[in-house]
Amino acid sequence: MLIRTHNAGFDHGSSSDITPQHLYMSRRELLKLGAAGGSALAVGGAWAQAAKSDGTQPMSTVRSTVPGAISMETPTSFQDASTYNNYYEFGLDKSDPARYAHTLQTRPWTVKVEGLVNKPKTFDIEELLKLSAQEERIYRLRCVEGWSMVIPWVGYSLSKLLAQVEPQGSAKYVEFVTLADSKTMPGLRSGVLDWPYTEGLRMDEAMHPLSLLTFGMYGKTLTPQNGAPVRLVLPWKYGFKSAKSIVTIRVVEKQPGTAWNKAARNEYGFYSNVNPDVPHPRWSQATERRIGEGGLFAKRHKTLLFNGYEAQVGQLYAGMDLRKDY
Ligand code: MTE
Repeated sequence: MLIRTHNAGFDHGSSSDITPQHLYMSRRELLKLGAAGGSALAVGGAWAQAAKSDGTQPMSTVRSTVPGAISMETPTSFQDASTYNNYYEFGLDKSDPARYAHTLQTRPWTVKVEGLVNKPKTFDIEELLKLSAQEERIYRLRCVEGWSMVIPWVGYSLSKLLAQVEPQGSAKYVEFVTLADSKTMPGLRSGVLDWPYTEGLRMDEAMHPLSLLTFGMYGKTLTPQNGAPVRLVLPWKYGFKSAKSIVTIRVVEKQPGTAWNKAARNEYGFYSNVNPDVPHPRWSQATERRIGEGGLFAKRHKTLLFNGYEAQVGQLYAGMDLRKDY
Protein backbone atom coordinates (compact mmCIF):
# COMPACT_ATOMS: atom_id res chain seq x y z
CA MET A 1 0.00 0.00 0.00
CA LEU A 2 1.35 3.38 -0.86
CA ILE A 3 0.46 6.84 0.15
CA ARG A 4 1.79 10.13 -1.08
CA THR A 5 3.95 10.73 1.96
CA HIS A 6 5.76 7.44 1.30
CA ASN A 7 8.33 6.95 -1.44
CA ALA A 8 6.14 7.20 -4.52
CA GLY A 9 8.70 5.31 -6.59
CA PHE A 10 6.90 2.14 -5.38
CA ASP A 11 7.67 -1.47 -5.95
CA HIS A 12 11.39 -1.39 -5.36
CA GLY A 13 12.86 -4.81 -4.87
CA SER A 14 14.10 -5.84 -1.48
CA SER A 15 16.71 -8.26 -0.31
CA SER A 16 13.93 -10.82 0.12
CA ASP A 17 13.35 -10.78 -3.64
CA ILE A 18 16.70 -12.43 -4.17
CA THR A 19 16.38 -14.99 -1.38
CA PRO A 20 17.50 -18.39 -2.67
CA GLN A 21 14.42 -20.41 -3.36
CA HIS A 22 15.53 -23.53 -1.53
CA LEU A 23 12.67 -23.08 0.93
CA TYR A 24 10.01 -23.62 -1.73
CA MET A 25 7.80 -26.64 -1.61
CA SER A 26 6.47 -27.51 -5.02
CA ARG A 27 2.80 -27.89 -5.67
CA ARG A 28 3.40 -31.54 -6.58
CA GLU A 29 5.08 -32.25 -3.25
CA LEU A 30 2.19 -30.60 -1.45
CA LEU A 31 -0.38 -32.68 -3.31
CA LYS A 32 1.54 -35.86 -2.47
CA LEU A 33 1.36 -34.94 1.20
CA GLY A 34 -2.37 -34.26 0.91
CA ALA A 35 -2.96 -37.65 -0.71
CA ALA A 36 -0.97 -39.39 2.01
CA GLY A 37 -2.84 -37.61 4.78
CA GLY A 38 -6.39 -38.33 3.56
CA SER A 39 -8.88 -35.66 4.56
CA ALA A 40 -6.80 -34.46 7.51
CA LEU A 41 -4.05 -32.80 5.54
CA ALA A 42 -0.74 -33.35 7.28
CA VAL A 43 0.99 -30.42 5.66
CA GLY A 44 1.53 -28.52 8.89
CA GLY A 45 4.66 -30.43 9.73
CA ALA A 46 6.04 -30.20 6.22
CA TRP A 47 5.58 -26.45 5.85
CA ALA A 48 6.88 -26.05 9.36
CA GLN A 49 10.18 -27.64 8.35
CA ALA A 50 10.50 -25.05 5.63
CA ALA A 51 9.97 -22.24 8.11
CA LYS A 52 12.47 -20.88 10.57
CA SER A 53 11.84 -21.01 14.28
CA ASP A 54 9.72 -17.92 14.95
CA GLY A 55 7.40 -18.69 17.85
CA THR A 56 4.57 -19.93 15.62
CA GLN A 57 2.78 -23.20 16.40
CA PRO A 58 1.95 -26.03 13.99
CA MET A 59 -1.77 -26.33 13.22
CA SER A 60 -3.76 -29.34 12.07
CA THR A 61 -5.58 -28.51 8.90
CA VAL A 62 -7.98 -30.10 6.44
CA ARG A 63 -7.97 -29.48 2.71
CA SER A 64 -10.60 -26.91 1.81
CA THR A 65 -13.41 -28.06 -0.46
CA VAL A 66 -14.65 -24.50 -1.13
CA PRO A 67 -14.65 -23.96 -4.93
CA GLY A 68 -11.61 -21.93 -5.97
CA ALA A 69 -9.87 -22.32 -2.60
CA ILE A 70 -6.80 -24.18 -3.85
CA SER A 71 -4.67 -22.32 -6.40
CA MET A 72 -2.48 -24.63 -8.46
CA GLU A 73 0.32 -22.05 -8.66
CA THR A 74 3.60 -22.63 -6.87
CA PRO A 75 3.45 -21.09 -3.41
CA THR A 76 5.77 -18.24 -2.53
CA SER A 77 8.45 -19.20 0.01
CA PHE A 78 7.58 -18.71 3.67
CA GLN A 79 10.73 -16.62 3.93
CA ASP A 80 9.42 -14.10 1.39
CA ALA A 81 5.84 -14.16 2.70
CA SER A 82 7.02 -13.36 6.22
CA THR A 83 9.67 -10.73 5.46
CA TYR A 84 8.06 -8.61 2.71
CA ASN A 85 5.03 -7.20 4.49
CA ASN A 86 2.72 -4.27 4.90
CA TYR A 87 1.75 -3.70 8.53
CA TYR A 88 2.01 0.05 9.03
CA GLU A 89 1.55 -0.18 12.80
CA PHE A 90 5.12 -1.51 12.75
CA GLY A 91 6.62 0.83 10.16
CA LEU A 92 6.37 1.76 6.49
CA ASP A 93 9.23 -0.25 5.05
CA LYS A 94 8.52 -3.77 3.76
CA SER A 95 11.10 -5.20 6.15
CA ASP A 96 9.87 -3.28 9.23
CA PRO A 97 7.05 -5.67 10.29
CA ALA A 98 9.39 -8.70 10.39
CA ARG A 99 11.86 -6.62 12.38
CA TYR A 100 9.52 -5.01 14.89
CA ALA A 101 6.24 -6.97 15.16
CA HIS A 102 7.65 -9.43 17.69
CA THR A 103 6.41 -6.98 20.34
CA LEU A 104 2.79 -7.77 19.41
CA GLN A 105 1.08 -9.50 22.35
CA THR A 106 -1.22 -12.14 20.84
CA ARG A 107 -2.35 -13.66 24.17
CA PRO A 108 -4.70 -13.02 25.85
CA TRP A 109 -6.73 -11.95 22.78
CA THR A 110 -10.43 -11.50 22.25
CA VAL A 111 -12.55 -10.58 19.24
CA LYS A 112 -15.74 -8.70 20.01
CA VAL A 113 -18.56 -9.28 17.52
CA GLU A 114 -21.25 -6.63 17.94
CA GLY A 115 -23.74 -4.33 16.21
CA LEU A 116 -26.83 -5.45 14.33
CA VAL A 117 -26.76 -9.06 15.51
CA ASN A 118 -29.12 -11.11 17.69
CA LYS A 119 -26.32 -12.72 19.67
CA PRO A 120 -23.41 -10.32 20.21
CA LYS A 121 -20.46 -12.04 21.77
CA THR A 122 -16.83 -11.56 22.73
CA PHE A 123 -14.89 -14.62 21.60
CA ASP A 124 -11.67 -15.67 23.23
CA ILE A 125 -9.11 -16.47 20.53
CA GLU A 126 -8.86 -20.11 21.71
CA GLU A 127 -12.62 -20.50 21.25
CA LEU A 128 -12.45 -18.80 17.86
CA LEU A 129 -9.69 -21.18 16.74
CA LYS A 130 -11.93 -24.15 17.51
CA LEU A 131 -15.18 -22.80 16.10
CA SER A 132 -14.72 -24.71 12.85
CA ALA A 133 -12.19 -27.00 11.18
CA GLN A 134 -9.07 -25.13 10.12
CA GLU A 135 -8.83 -25.38 6.34
CA GLU A 136 -5.78 -24.91 4.21
CA ARG A 137 -6.46 -22.64 1.25
CA ILE A 138 -3.91 -21.60 -1.33
CA TYR A 139 -4.81 -18.08 -2.41
CA ARG A 140 -3.08 -15.50 -4.55
CA LEU A 141 -2.61 -12.20 -2.73
CA ARG A 142 -2.34 -9.18 -5.07
CA CYS A 143 -1.17 -5.90 -3.61
CA VAL A 144 -2.27 -2.61 -5.17
CA GLU A 145 1.45 -1.73 -5.30
CA GLY A 146 1.88 -4.20 -8.19
CA TRP A 147 3.29 -7.33 -6.57
CA SER A 148 1.70 -10.65 -5.72
CA MET A 149 2.29 -13.84 -3.78
CA VAL A 150 0.68 -17.29 -3.55
CA ILE A 151 0.20 -18.28 0.08
CA PRO A 152 -1.15 -21.38 1.80
CA TRP A 153 -3.36 -19.73 4.41
CA VAL A 154 -5.16 -21.53 7.26
CA GLY A 155 -8.59 -20.56 8.53
CA TYR A 156 -12.29 -20.96 7.89
CA SER A 157 -14.99 -18.97 6.14
CA LEU A 158 -15.88 -15.74 7.94
CA SER A 159 -19.54 -16.68 7.32
CA LYS A 160 -19.18 -19.39 9.97
CA LEU A 161 -18.41 -16.81 12.64
CA LEU A 162 -21.14 -14.44 11.43
CA ALA A 163 -23.69 -17.29 11.56
CA GLN A 164 -22.92 -17.66 15.28
CA VAL A 165 -24.02 -14.11 16.06
CA GLU A 166 -27.04 -14.04 13.71
CA PRO A 167 -26.94 -10.76 11.73
CA GLN A 168 -30.28 -8.92 11.68
CA GLY A 169 -32.26 -8.09 8.53
CA SER A 170 -31.11 -4.45 8.55
CA ALA A 171 -27.41 -5.45 8.52
CA LYS A 172 -25.74 -4.39 5.26
CA TYR A 173 -22.01 -4.10 5.99
CA VAL A 174 -19.36 -5.52 8.29
CA GLU A 175 -16.65 -3.34 9.79
CA PHE A 176 -13.33 -4.75 11.03
CA VAL A 177 -11.33 -2.91 13.66
CA THR A 178 -7.74 -3.93 14.34
CA LEU A 179 -5.45 -3.50 17.32
CA ALA A 180 -3.98 -0.05 18.01
CA ASP A 181 -1.61 -0.37 20.96
CA SER A 182 0.83 2.49 21.22
CA LYS A 183 2.97 0.57 23.73
CA THR A 184 3.82 -2.20 21.25
CA MET A 185 3.23 -0.57 17.86
CA PRO A 186 5.81 2.13 17.04
CA GLY A 187 4.08 2.97 13.74
CA LEU A 188 1.14 4.55 15.58
CA ARG A 189 3.36 7.56 16.24
CA SER A 190 3.18 8.35 12.54
CA GLY A 191 0.07 10.04 11.27
CA VAL A 192 -0.05 8.21 7.93
CA LEU A 193 -3.32 6.49 8.81
CA ASP A 194 -6.21 7.24 11.10
CA TRP A 195 -5.63 4.55 13.77
CA PRO A 196 -6.99 2.04 14.49
CA TYR A 197 -6.73 0.52 11.01
CA THR A 198 -10.23 -0.42 9.92
CA GLU A 199 -11.71 -2.20 6.91
CA GLY A 200 -15.19 -2.99 5.69
CA LEU A 201 -17.10 -5.38 3.46
CA ARG A 202 -20.62 -5.52 2.13
CA MET A 203 -22.58 -8.28 3.86
CA ASP A 204 -22.71 -10.56 0.79
CA GLU A 205 -18.94 -10.20 0.34
CA ALA A 206 -18.38 -11.06 3.99
CA MET A 207 -20.66 -14.10 3.66
CA HIS A 208 -18.93 -15.39 0.51
CA PRO A 209 -17.27 -18.75 1.31
CA LEU A 210 -13.89 -17.55 -0.05
CA SER A 211 -13.74 -14.75 2.57
CA LEU A 212 -11.30 -16.30 4.99
CA LEU A 213 -11.00 -15.62 8.70
CA THR A 214 -7.33 -16.48 8.84
CA PHE A 215 -5.39 -17.90 11.78
CA GLY A 216 -2.36 -19.42 10.08
CA MET A 217 -0.16 -19.81 7.03
CA TYR A 218 2.15 -22.58 5.83
CA GLY A 219 0.55 -25.00 8.31
CA LYS A 220 1.42 -22.86 11.34
CA THR A 221 -0.15 -20.04 13.29
CA LEU A 222 0.33 -16.58 11.75
CA THR A 223 3.54 -14.72 12.40
CA PRO A 224 3.01 -11.33 14.10
CA GLN A 225 4.05 -9.52 10.92
CA ASN A 226 1.42 -11.42 8.92
CA GLY A 227 -1.36 -10.34 11.29
CA ALA A 228 -1.43 -12.74 14.25
CA PRO A 229 -3.53 -14.00 15.84
CA VAL A 230 -6.40 -13.45 13.38
CA ARG A 231 -6.78 -11.52 10.11
CA LEU A 232 -8.86 -11.46 6.98
CA VAL A 233 -7.88 -12.66 3.52
CA LEU A 234 -10.11 -11.99 0.50
CA PRO A 235 -8.31 -13.35 -2.54
CA TRP A 236 -10.19 -11.25 -5.12
CA LYS A 237 -9.48 -7.91 -3.44
CA TYR A 238 -6.27 -5.91 -3.12
CA GLY A 239 -4.25 -7.00 -0.10
CA PHE A 240 -5.10 -3.91 1.90
CA LYS A 241 -8.66 -5.22 2.45
CA SER A 242 -7.07 -8.04 4.50
CA ALA A 243 -7.13 -6.42 7.94
CA LYS A 244 -4.56 -7.83 10.37
CA SER A 245 -4.82 -8.50 14.13
CA ILE A 246 -8.60 -7.99 14.34
CA VAL A 247 -10.12 -7.05 17.71
CA THR A 248 -13.69 -6.03 16.80
CA ILE A 249 -16.12 -7.10 14.10
CA ARG A 250 -19.11 -4.76 13.86
CA VAL A 251 -22.21 -5.50 11.82
CA VAL A 252 -23.68 -2.21 10.61
CA GLU A 253 -26.25 -0.65 8.30
CA LYS A 254 -24.18 2.14 6.71
CA GLN A 255 -21.04 1.65 4.63
CA PRO A 256 -18.15 2.01 7.11
CA GLY A 257 -15.07 4.15 6.55
CA THR A 258 -11.88 2.23 5.77
CA ALA A 259 -8.30 3.16 6.68
CA TRP A 260 -7.03 3.61 3.10
CA ASN A 261 -10.16 5.27 1.82
CA LYS A 262 -9.91 7.82 4.62
CA ALA A 263 -6.20 8.39 3.91
CA ALA A 264 -6.57 8.87 0.12
CA ARG A 265 -10.19 8.87 -1.02
CA ASN A 266 -9.41 9.24 -4.74
CA GLU A 267 -6.88 6.38 -4.72
CA TYR A 268 -8.44 3.62 -2.61
CA GLY A 269 -12.15 2.94 -2.91
CA PHE A 270 -14.39 0.90 -0.65
CA TYR A 271 -14.63 -2.11 -2.98
CA SER A 272 -10.97 -2.39 -3.98
CA ASN A 273 -11.50 -5.39 -6.24
CA VAL A 274 -8.42 -6.43 -8.20
CA ASN A 275 -9.15 -4.89 -11.60
CA PRO A 276 -6.52 -4.57 -14.35
CA ASP A 277 -8.82 -2.17 -16.24
CA VAL A 278 -8.94 0.45 -13.50
CA PRO A 279 -5.48 1.96 -13.02
CA HIS A 280 -4.49 3.42 -9.72
CA PRO A 281 -4.35 7.20 -10.30
CA ARG A 282 -0.54 7.06 -10.16
CA TRP A 283 0.27 3.72 -11.86
CA SER A 284 -1.17 0.88 -13.94
CA GLN A 285 -2.78 -2.24 -12.46
CA ALA A 286 -2.40 -4.29 -15.68
CA THR A 287 0.54 -6.44 -14.56
CA GLU A 288 2.16 -7.68 -11.39
CA ARG A 289 5.52 -8.88 -10.14
CA ARG A 290 5.44 -12.24 -8.34
CA ILE A 291 7.56 -11.94 -5.22
CA GLY A 292 10.45 -14.41 -5.31
CA GLU A 293 10.63 -14.61 -9.10
CA GLY A 294 13.98 -12.97 -9.73
CA GLY A 295 13.51 -9.42 -8.46
CA LEU A 296 12.84 -6.36 -10.58
CA PHE A 297 13.93 -7.93 -13.88
CA ALA A 298 11.61 -10.96 -13.76
CA LYS A 299 8.82 -11.13 -16.35
CA ARG A 300 5.68 -9.54 -14.97
CA HIS A 301 2.41 -11.49 -14.87
CA LYS A 302 -0.77 -10.18 -16.42
CA THR A 303 -3.18 -9.21 -13.65
CA LEU A 304 -6.57 -10.92 -13.89
CA LEU A 305 -9.95 -9.41 -13.12
CA PHE A 306 -10.89 -10.21 -9.51
CA ASN A 307 -7.37 -11.66 -9.26
CA GLY A 308 -8.54 -14.73 -11.22
CA TYR A 309 -11.55 -15.41 -8.95
CA GLU A 310 -14.16 -14.00 -11.35
CA ALA A 311 -16.01 -17.33 -11.68
CA GLN A 312 -16.53 -17.42 -7.92
CA VAL A 313 -17.23 -13.78 -7.08
CA GLY A 314 -18.11 -11.95 -10.31
CA GLN A 315 -21.85 -12.22 -9.66
CA LEU A 316 -21.50 -10.20 -6.44
CA TYR A 317 -20.84 -7.14 -8.61
CA ALA A 318 -23.27 -7.77 -11.47
CA GLY A 319 -24.71 -4.45 -12.66
CA MET A 320 -22.16 -2.33 -10.80
CA ASP A 321 -19.89 0.13 -12.57
CA LEU A 322 -16.50 -1.08 -11.34
CA ARG A 323 -14.82 2.11 -12.58
CA LYS A 324 -16.98 4.15 -10.25
CA ASP A 325 -17.13 1.55 -7.48
CA TYR A 326 -13.41 0.80 -7.51
N1 MTE B 1 -3.71 -4.57 8.51
C1 MTE B 1 -3.27 -3.68 9.43
N2 MTE B 1 -3.81 -3.72 10.68
N3 MTE B 1 -2.33 -2.74 9.14
C2 MTE B 1 -1.80 -2.63 7.88
O1 MTE B 1 -0.94 -1.75 7.63
N4 MTE B 1 -1.75 -3.51 5.60
C3 MTE B 1 -2.59 -4.10 4.55
C4 MTE B 1 -3.14 -5.48 4.95
N5 MTE B 1 -3.61 -5.47 6.33
C5 MTE B 1 -2.23 -3.55 6.88
C6 MTE B 1 -3.20 -4.54 7.26
C7 MTE B 1 -1.89 -4.19 3.28
S1 MTE B 1 -1.59 -2.70 2.50
C8 MTE B 1 -1.55 -5.39 2.71
S2 MTE B 1 -0.92 -5.47 1.12
C9 MTE B 1 -1.67 -6.66 3.46
O2 MTE B 1 -2.11 -6.46 4.80
C10 MTE B 1 -0.31 -7.34 3.48
O3 MTE B 1 -0.41 -8.61 4.07
P1 MTE B 1 0.93 -9.47 4.23
O4 MTE B 1 1.97 -8.57 4.84
O5 MTE B 1 0.58 -10.62 5.11
O6 MTE B 1 1.32 -9.89 2.83
